[in-house]
Amino acid sequence: TKIHKYKTRLPIPAAMPAVSRKGGTDHYAVAVRQFRQQILPPGLPKTTVWGYGSAAHGGTFGYPARTIEARVDRPVEVTWINGLVDGKGRARPHLLPVDQTLHWANPAGGAGHQDLPAHLTSTPRQYTGPVPIVTHVHGAHATEEADGYPTAWYLPHADLPRGFAAAGSDYAAMREKAESYGARWRPGEAVFRYDNDQAPGTLWYHDHTLGLTRLNVYAGPVGFYLLRGGDGDLPEGTLPGPAPRPDDPDGTRYYEIPLVIQDRSFRRDGSLYYPDSRSQFHDAFAGPYAPVSDIAPVWNPAYLADTVVVNGRTWPQLTVEPRRYRFRVLNGSNSRSFILKIAAGATAPRPATAAVPFWQIGSDGGWLRTPVRLDQLLLGPGERADVIVDFTGLKEDTALYMINEAPDVPYAAGTLGTDYQAANPATTGQVMKLLVVGLRGRDTSVPPEHLTLPAATPLPDSAASWRVLLDELPSAALTGVNHRVAMLGTVAPDRTQTHLRWHDAPTEKPVPGRSETWEILNFTDHSHTVHLHQVQFEVISRQPFGIPPKPRPAEAWESGRKDTVLAHSGEVTRVKAVFDLPGRFVWHCHMLEHEDNEMMRPILVA
Ligand code: C2O
Ligand code: CU
Repeated sequence: TKIHKYKTRLPIPAAMPAVSRKGGTDHYAVAVRQFRQQILPPGLPKTTVWGYGSAAHGGTFGYPARTIEARVDRPVEVTWINGLVDGKGRARPHLLPVDQTLHWANPAGGAGHQDLPAHLTSTPRQYTGPVPIVTHVHGAHATEEADGYPTAWYLPHADLPRGFAAAGSDYAAMREKAESYGARWRPGEAVFRYDNDQAPGTLWYHDHTLGLTRLNVYAGPVGFYLLRGGDGDLPEGTLPGPAPRPDDPDGTRYYEIPLVIQDRSFRRDGSLYYPDSRSQFHDAFAGPYAPVSDIAPVWNPAYLADTVVVNGRTWPQLTVEPRRYRFRVLNGSNSRSFILKIAAGATAPRPATAAVPFWQIGSDGGWLRTPVRLDQLLLGPGERADVIVDFTGLKEDTALYMINEAPDVPYAAGTLGTDYQAANPATTGQVMKLLVVGLRGRDTSVPPEHLTLPAATPLPDSAASWRVLLDELPSAALTGVNHRVAMLGTVAPDRTQTHLRWHDAPTEKPVPGRSETWEILNFTDHSHTVHLHQVQFEVISRQPFGIPPKPRPAEAWESGRKDTVLAHSGEVTRVKAVFDLPGRFVWHCHMLEHEDNEMMRPILVA
């Protein structure tokens, strides 16, 4: 079956309706549910997915979900509901194969982290129990009880099989803290409050359950959380707009459009495909993975799927007028990096020349120092780019294509990384079509080259540093077999490396209010995106190991505050952050397969 490209319109997610806007706070009730959606072009089957929507408003569920529009310094309170139940109120099973041998939420209980004995060499039985969910607003300056701690997950409110835990080990502590200031958590729900006391930015929300994030996110629940306003925003009308609001009449034209770009694979019946075995997996670096090992044969070290989905449609088309657009681009893939370019042809030879440049004005959590003209956008998993694309002067019927020139394997840069061939030009090398139509209204936005962006206050000089490492290791019990665990750890001043797992006690303990440097050493052969919760950091520099003397400054497109950074192989990446909310948080690799297999560590701010 061929998936025809550019046959369907790019969906533009509307804004999420609030339940109330009483008392200076926006209240939302957001559930995650299962439904069917046309993701493949019409004529091909629909796909069963999960997505968020307003529990108080029918018909608002979607993949991707509606956008939460938030204002700086105006609190948002969301009741996050695990609605993964069927019509009879019974808990639904997962859509995708769960690896029960990772350190995962495991509502059925048992050993917690399982160092799998060598005799377990066949695919473990499929988990068919209820699905835990806990939502994280990525990039939010949120308190610990509202941050979506990986072990604060909860099951839907339904009859549970005997012996099942309704919530994870940290749910009760987080609930108690939230209820101390008046929130009410009912079973199957959590009420998270976001103060939005941070700069405007392109935030997003997704599941964060321990050892399940790769599967829960792949199944669909994802949405934008856009923060605007306050002293740090540009005056209304400066940038192309509007973006969708909650009650726009049909046919409203948008010049600010969020784009969540993800790779997905489908079976013939339209269902989502995610591998349930490592037996076919071929590692570009290490050769074929052994299906028989002491790591269960289910988990894959990185899954890169074979289609590109934008806003919940495979290879869609967007009609654009010859004027400026603002795109909020999110790489929401599990492990795939994108190098996006707007080219004149869908299958232009690679590397293609850019037909229209991107003007990047912001990244994850705020404005760049100055707009940066770029022929291509490199986005690792979890990263965002706020860009202006100027189609002014283009003739009607001009066809442009957003293409992808990143490889079909984990992106590699740095001294240990190798260059790979670009993505398959026939499939994952294509993203969406942009078809120019007639101009329908005057463009009064400021040309990007003339924009002055609100400057962020620089963080104070760093007073301490944390030296941490990224690594992938053969699992302990069987060596000499090609399989690895993605891990984090610490590097002592005498260079001793310690590899640590999720369950090990926190080693990174930022002092509230102190400016601190994180030195991230990547010992693997490809790049990883490292995400710190709670903060928006400054990217300081990158430096290859052992090569004196000069670190490279952050890239021009990293001059704004970020929460997720590409750490390249054989290099130390330095970022500077101020944690000011005490409590328990996490940092991790945003390649979700890694995050789910030990590439996540607790942070204790105290
Ligand atoms: Cu986007 Cu810790 O997650
Ligand atoms: Cu990683």
